[in-house]
Amino acid sequence: MSGPLEPMLQAARRALANAHAPYSRFRVGACVRAASGRLYAGCNVENASYGLTLCAETTAIGAMIAAGDREIAEVVLLTERAELCPPCGRCRQQLAEFAGPQARIHLCGPDGVRRTTTLGELLPLAFGPGAFERTDP
Ligand code: THU
Repeated sequence: MSGPLEPMLQAARRALANAHAPYSRFRVGACVRAASGRLYAGCNVENASYGLTLCAETTAIGAMIAAGDREIAEVVLLTERAELCPPCGRCRQQLAEFAGPQARIHLCGPDGVRRTTTLGELLPLAFGPGAFERTDP
């Protein structure tokens, strides 16, 4: 299968293969496409102190920020499971820091895209950076 998302899927697949998920055995790969066109991949990084676990979206966003990009255009989220895996609430908020409500989020499995949604659909009425925009007195 190939299409416009294939490079993002490939990057997410490679990252998923490197996931550190010995506790949940639930490996996740993510790829964000920045507005610049550059792709950044991430995977979940679990910790023996469970609550310190980092989600795949978080590490992909970290790679993007470290490389100097600031705007997310599109996201691929990949798991190996049969069920759809939408991003957790914390990741939705983290995405909202750098993505607008129109940003497409592709929920993917081994066979490719299962469902495409938007950040606006996943996180309506979001609290985001706009909350700090200056308003005239
Ligand atoms: N996980 C993610 O990487 N992203 C999500 O949006 C949902 C959950 C990871 C965290 C943990 O390592 C495993 O999936 C099970 O919760």
